[in-house]
Amino acid sequence: MSTESIAIKTSGPLHGTVKLVGAKNAVLVIMASLILTKGKNKLTNVPFSEDVLHMIRLLQSLGAIVEQDREQSTLYIDTSDLVSAQIGADIMKKMRASILVMGPLLARFGSADIAMPGGCVLGARPIGLHLKAFSKMGATYTQHEDSLTAEAKQLRSVKHVLEYPSVGATENIMMASVLSEGKTRIVNAAIEPEVLDLIDALQQMGAQILVEPPASILITGVSSLQSIEHQILHDRLEAGTLLLAAAITGGEIDIPDAPADSMEVFLAKLEEMGHTITRGEHGRGVHIKATKNPQAVSFKTMPYPGFPTDLQAPMMAALCLASGKSVIHETVFENRLLHVRELQKMGAQIAVDGQTATIVGVDELYGASVIATDIRASAALVIAGLVAQGDTSMTGVHHLKRGYEDVVSKLAALGGKIKLLEE
Ligand code: EPZ
Repeated sequence: MSTESIAIKTSGPLHGTVKLVGAKNAVLVIMASLILTKGKNKLTNVPFSEDVLHMIRLLQSLGAIVEQDREQSTLYIDTSDLVSAQIGADIMKKMRASILVMGPLLARFGSADIAMPGGCVLGARPIGLHLKAFSKMGATYTQHEDSLTAEAKQLRSVKHVLEYPSVGATENIMMASVLSEGKTRIVNAAIEPEVLDLIDALQQMGAQILVEPPASILITGVSSLQSIEHQILHDRLEAGTLLLAAAITGGEIDIPDAPADSMEVFLAKLEEMGHTITRGEHGRGVHIKATKNPQAVSFKTMPYPGFPTDLQAPMMAALCLASGKSVIHETVFENRLLHVRELQKMGAQIAVDGQTATIVGVDELYGASVIATDIRASAALVIAGLVAQGDTSMTGVHHLKRGYEDVVSKLAALGGKIKLLEE
């Protein structure tokens, strides 16, 4: 089996303008939502990352006809003839987001047959909130050793009070409810930009959905939904990753598509470090001119609009070289500090106590052989490698490919000395 690795050398300040792709965490759930339609759908601004390819295979296993136009970042997905086949373990274990087909399958076929999703290094990644909600709607379950069948003759519209604003549970409940008669209310719902992009896509299909401040979602069931053409929103997480690469190298880059208005807490932290951030008109576009003397900052990860957990690892990499002591508290996942060990191999001074990491800035990081443990950890290690003295080799490249369409080429185009090696 070929073992890929990413080779990174000490790079100077990154410079230039970079294009963004569509958001992974929007396109995956919107692809799943197309199960609710019976027709030809078109998605544009699609990031062709590994996870998108997994979701394509999943939809094809249900009978969808999928055409990819990578040049145009476009997917054509025909859901006219779908069957409610079992979603195999191979697909379920590769990608937790596969759980997002449960709601649409229950709504369309009254049944969903899935292999239990793989937990992943971020923690147990339970799906109790999803299953509890489906039970409240009338679903019953039969569990085999490693798979679960949910059945519901007619899903009921009820009030769901989420004890935690789970992104996936909010999305699954919404997709299960849009075709069920009556009114569904989700209290303490997730309101991430990617959730709002799903709502936009569902409304285009004809769903009746209202978002009520502070964080409730009201759905009134309709009898059928139309196929759609939808442009996926730009990826705030790719934007944040690229901004941090510029920050750590003391560079200056421009990202015209960056959704600045959905990145405010993160951008404020970059400014607190001493970086100069300029936001474009109407909340679109971000320009960074990095300081050569970044200061330590502290933060907690929170559900939106708080500091995004998906930028915690890359931000930690940048804080390894900031003057002073930074304290990061990861509140969303119970095991999302595995990148600490790898950053320590590069000379970072980090102490961990439970889900809190304390980083004392050092003058230099050193190139090392490091292993990526999840999508955002891989981004953190790439960023650290750009400024480390000496060569860095990172394995676990599939994590980076799962979450980013082609960040290696983008970093290289900005001046990063980075390339993908196939051994
Ligand atoms: C989505 O995951 C994203 N993935 C994650 O991005 C992101 O980190 C996360 O939301 C939080 O923003 C996709 O959208 C495909 P949650 P999801 O349900 O839906 C616990 C990335 O790197 N929980 O909001 O799985 C859960 O264990 C990925 O792009 C339960 O306890 O996140 C976690 O601790 C990583 N029971 C917390 O809630 C449940 O039934 C937040 O999970 C569901 C979740």
